[in-house]
Amino acid sequence: MQLGQSSSLSVLLVLLLLLCHENKFHRWKVNGAISAFQPTIFDNAQWRVIFHLYRNVTMMMAGRTGYKTSGKFLQNKIPESVPFPCDVTVGRSPEPPTSVHKLRPGDINVVAAIGDSVITASGASATSFLQLYTENRGLSWCIGGQWGWRNATTLPNILKMFNPKLVGYSYRDSYSFHWDSQFNNAEIGAVSKELPHMAAQMVTRIRTDKRVNFQKDWKLLTITIGGNDICAYVCTLKDPESLPMQHRRSLLKMLRYLRDNLPRTLVNIVSVPDVSTVVSIKKKPMMCWILHHAECPCWVGPLHNSTKESRARWARIQMQYRKVEEEVAMLDEFRGLDEFAVVHQPWTRNLSLMKGNEVDYTLLSYDCFHMSQKGHSQAAVAYWNNLLEPPGKKSTGWKPGIDVFRCPSKESPYIYTYDNS
Ligand SMILES: *[C@@H]1O[C@H](CO)[C@@H](O)[C@H](O)[C@H]1NC(C)=O
Ligand SMILES: *[C@@H]1O[C@H](CO)[C@@H](O)[C@H](O)[C@H]1NC(C)=O
Ligand SMILES: *[C@@H]1O[C@H](CO)[C@@H](O)[C@H](O)[C@H]1NC(C)=O
Ligand SMILES: *[C@@H]1O[C@H](CO)[C@@H](O)[C@H](O)[C@H]1NC(C)=O
Repeated sequence: MQLGQSSSLSVLLVLLLLLCHENKFHRWKVNGAISAFQPTIFDNAQWRVIFHLYRNVTMMMAGRTGYKTSGKFLQNKIPESVPFPCDVTVGRSPEPPTSVHKLRPGDINVVAAIGDSVITASGASATSFLQLYTENRGLSWCIGGQWGWRNATTLPNILKMFNPKLVGYSYRDSYSFHWDSQFNNAEIGAVSKELPHMAAQMVTRIRTDKRVNFQKDWKLLTITIGGNDICAYVCTLKDPESLPMQHRRSLLKMLRYLRDNLPRTLVNIVSVPDVSTVVSIKKKPMMCWILHHAECPCWVGPLHNSTKESRARWARIQMQYRKVEEEVAMLDEFRGLDEFAVVHQPWTRNLSLMKGNEVDYTLLSYDCFHMSQKGHSQAAVAYWNNLLEPPGKKSTGWKPGIDVFRCPSKESPYIYTYDNS
């Protein structure tokens, strides 16, 4: 990668500064009651107006990119001539079930999600630097509900086919303090240790929503975290090897809290995709090369003296970090319960970006780090399929389109847990 001109160098510096500053500012975010981040000294009404105004202005500058109707970053629309692949009557119980192990897709009344920018769908429709600021939450693979399953293939848009009364999905581009984000409580830059706090504020949102019957409604929760832990946090720790253990502790704290405070819940833990898949792309566009320095400084660039050896170390820690998630999901204390279950969904275990011998950039956002809308739709189908595949036989990758699209059947109508398979 050549940076011949000094003008491109100054552009680089300005962009990096902007990005770093943005993340700091975000961490000071006020209104701890709805944010992933713990309340700070700025958590009061005056600062809140300023923070929200600042975010509203960046959103205005970047625009509502999530309404674009053309571009390579969009999925292929599924034509009207193709019927919805599943028999929706089989997919919903005649009476709401009383056991999480007899849950069909159409029995889910509420969707929710916590995590990081993988879930906020940051930059899913971005075609410029500024647009990376827009969180296209309506298009998010696990919690977006904009449009419909044909041109925004997301989990909620699939679930809506079985239960049109589903609530909780994000309506459109928004930040977490906007009403449009609904029960998508993810925050860009969030790390594992913030999970318990995030879970608590998500439960508050659900409990105080008048559309939700808190005790009776079935809730499906998706959790994905780790990109920031592995890319930017691990190399700042005194003892980086302790990160997986710390992750285990916050997962446990969060899951116990959810088990005891969110009735009728199925929690799906989806591991972060291997960050080396994107940061190690050879001959990436210059903008991606620049941005990876800011988004993944532990792996890329001089800031943390990254070398082949240090990257191998972070890769080992990442492997353990992901392993912890599988192990925790299967713990006895979350087994055999009627109203609570945890399942690890492994579709991110082995993601390929290749199309033949080439990297398929249409799956990636403008920064080659986050997913594009097309990537989100592919993720949603993989996730949906995982729900209907028994543990041990779940697919560990993703495929374009809906050629593989699982359906609940008369023989196996239920979403798989560790206790009904
Ligand atoms: C930010 O935007 C939201 C949604 O459009 C609006 O409700 C809120 O009042 C705005 N806040 C400020 C401080 O501009
Ligand atoms: C998706 O379909 C909706 C109508 O259901 C339409 O308003 C929207 O523009 C479509 N989006 C794209 C990208 O085609
Ligand atoms: C990077 O290396 C330089 C020189 O070898 C050293 O002074 C510096 O502390 C290192 N930085 C980090 C973050 O390890
Ligand atoms: C990962 O997926 C690729 C194809 O996408 C496949 O060739 C490879 O064998 C898989 N690796 C593992 C460990 O499953």
